Amino acid sequence: MNGLSVRAPASDADWEAYYELRWRILRAPWQAQGPERDDTDATSLHRMLCDAQGKTLAVGRLHRVDAQQGQIRYMAVDSDCRRRGYGSLLLAGLEQAAREMQLESIILQAREAALPFYRRHGYNMVEKSFLLFDEIQHYLMNKQINN
Ligand SMILES: CC(C)(COP(=O)(O)OP(=O)(O)OC[C@H]1O[C@@H](n2cnc3c(N)ncnc32)[C@H](O)[C@@H]1OP(=O)(O)O)[C@@H](O)C(=O)NCCC(=O)NCCS
Repeated sequence: MNGLSVRAPASDADWEAYYELRWRILRAPWQAQGPERDDTDATSLHRMLCDAQGKTLAVGRLHRVDAQQGQIRYMAVDSDCRRRGYGSLLLAGLEQAAREMQLESIILQAREAALPFYRRHGYNMVEKSFLLFDEIQHYLMNKQINN
């Protein structure tokens, strides 16, 4: 897609945009304080999808769980540009990074509304897991990745 890039946040402005979008999509609607960071952010691999003007359209991250397995978290696409393939591009970038880390599988906790997206990308349902903010049901999913 023209002018789009999936890359690691680099500058202070990148990081600000990265955490702002993550918070705006995944936390702000539930009045959560932000932009929050968690204990594994420092050791995670982060990716952002930007347009030709540098606007951040989608963000997500991957962290190593153990020698074989990684976990994708905090996938968020700006609500103004869903269903344009941006989430798919970002996910492909994170999966490529997982392959480069020699990981064999990826797990994630999918929000109920995101299940069709992850199913479309080959993730399998493992089990119903936790409820976030008393209302967002999550499901543990996994996918084997080929190196
Ligand atoms: C889930 C999310 C990341 C998907 O990003 P996206 O850019 O809209 O997804 P894509 O355009 O790449 O979708 C690829 C395919 O996934 C499926 N899909 C995506 N969103 C879907 C939806 N809401 N309902 C049904 N299928 C969906 C479709 O098969 C779609 O292909 P199509 O548009 O040709 O039919 C995005 O909707 C989002 O940020 N949601 C809010 C935050 C969230 O729930 N994040 C996930 C946390 S686990």
